[in-house]
Amino acid sequence: MSAVKSIAVLTSGGDSQGMNAAVRAVVRSALYYGLDVYGVQRGYQGLINDDIRPMDLRSVGDIIQRGGTVLQTARCKEFLTPEGQQKGADVLRERGIDGLIVIGGDGSYQGANKLSKLGIKTMALPGTIDNDIAYTDFTIGFDTAVSIVVDAINKLRDTMTSHERSSIVEVMGRHCGDIALYAGLASGAETIIVPEVEYDLDEVSRRMQDNFKHGKRHSIIVVAEGAGKGENVAQHITDCCGIEPRTTVLGHIQRGGAPTHNDRILASQLGDFAVRQLMEGHSAKSCGIIKGELTATDIDLVVNTKKPFNMELYNLALRLSQ
Ligand code: ADP
Ligand code: F6P
Repeated sequence: MSAVKSIAVLTSGGDSQGMNAAVRAVVRSALYYGLDVYGVQRGYQGLINDDIRPMDLRSVGDIIQRGGTVLQTARCKEFLTPEGQQKGADVLRERGIDGLIVIGGDGSYQGANKLSKLGIKTMALPGTIDNDIAYTDFTIGFDTAVSIVVDAINKLRDTMTSHERSSIVEVMGRHCGDIALYAGLASGAETIIVPEVEYDLDEVSRRMQDNFKHGKRHSIIVVAEGAGKGENVAQHITDCCGIEPRTTVLGHIQRGGAPTHNDRILASQLGDFAVRQLMEGHSAKSCGIIKGELTATDIDLVVNTKKPFNMELYNLALRLSQ
């Protein structure tokens, strides 16, 4: 006996690679277990506008490998208001939809939390490149975004080495430094600047100067957008020691392209798990993976917890970057 007979799924906020794989998993698992399943177009905006359609097996065919989201996404101001949230809940009730799966980042989680407090059975899946959701080791899209940054740094390294230059690479992540940390470590960056760790640009400049003196032929600094602008770091270095780094802002390139197999597998596991959680009568949970184990944690707790920063990895990157 399932606690829900029909469910809906939406993607919200900034898109991320693997959202499609998660939608596919939700739809196919729901159908496998005999539930009716609906797709909400354009996140909370579509919920308020009742832009909802039934999904079948074929509606999620040929999407596991695609970036973006076939359900599209939106940042919806109206849903920030209690009236907007009530409208969204009413639409689901009027349609007789018993449960909702929200795939998105921390803002979308806040919305899912509000809906659950209005009595909607809600599950949240971490769909964001930022890796800033607590109670999961990784979010859907993070692995792909890091791969894109590593690939870009490999290319930059070629040209920087030829010219014996230094390169500043500004990456996304909003207030979280994980993309910078993981990509910086994986690409052998000399310095990783993140919002979670204090930094001294004079010290960064001196280090760069010393490294060039001691035979380094290139230098790469990865800056998380939450810690500051790449161009400001470059200007500071120029003012401090005359070196003129070239700055690259990777921007939305980091959010596109085919998801890695890690993101596809994570999305498939979490999508299926969320459906089963709803069927078992759970609600107001965030689905995640911690040390390989699927977990369901109260959304309320997740939205009120800052994801801990991995200082061990940060210190490792420091030790290896001399
Ligand atoms: P992300 O989910 O990627 O962090 P946003 O922060 O833009 O992206 O949030 C996506 C959407 O979630 C917002 O446009 C809004 O509709 C909804 N949302 C964000 N914060 C709240 C909140 N505090 N209460 C209700 N809904 C919210
Ligand atoms: O949350 C995902 C993210 O890509 C952040 O890394 C970035 O700060 C933000 O969204 C960019 O938002 P937008 O797509 O609205 O420019």
